[in-house]
Amino acid sequence: MRIDFRINGIDQSIELSNDEMLVNVIRERLELRGTKIGCGNGECGACTVLVDGDAVCSCLIPAHRVAGRSITTIEGIAKENELSPVQAAFVRHGAVQCGFCTSGMIMSASALLAVNLKPTEADISHALAGNICRCTGYRQIIDAVLDASGQTPLGHEPS
Ligand code: FES
Ligand code: FES
Repeated sequence: MRIDFRINGIDQSIELSNDEMLVNVIRERLELRGTKIGCGNGECGACTVLVDGDAVCSCLIPAHRVAGRSITTIEGIAKENELSPVQAAFVRHGAVQCGFCTSGMIMSASALLAVNLKPTEADISHALAGNICRCTGYRQIIDAVLDASGQTPLGHEPS
């Protein structure tokens, strides 16, 4: 089965094998390895990408379902080599440690800020509830999202 879709602003046409999942198309076919595979079953959020603006776990999405749709991965977030506001805030707040969760976190946070310009801390925690981080304790991540939305971080000041 052949599907056409758009990813990071570029049209793609790919012949799928049976049962191929979106995360495999992204990482193996298109070699966009910023999207990670952690659990492989929808529990960690490391594989989060945007499909038509919605944050989804790409390990759970059969690739044929994105036919005709628009996907954004972490590689498509920066504009002309300039970090997105969320990416830059993650750097400022030390919200990246081992980095394994980071691309998924940034995709979920970006989806939130696209529909909620001034999220509360509770809004952010809710939006990131499906993204697990084993390093940061989440404070720096929440502060980074508050900062990216122009609000005062509640915990650590940016370095
Ligand atoms: S790898 Fe997809 S949710 Fe963990
Ligand atoms: S920075 Fe290591 S898992 Fe989040």
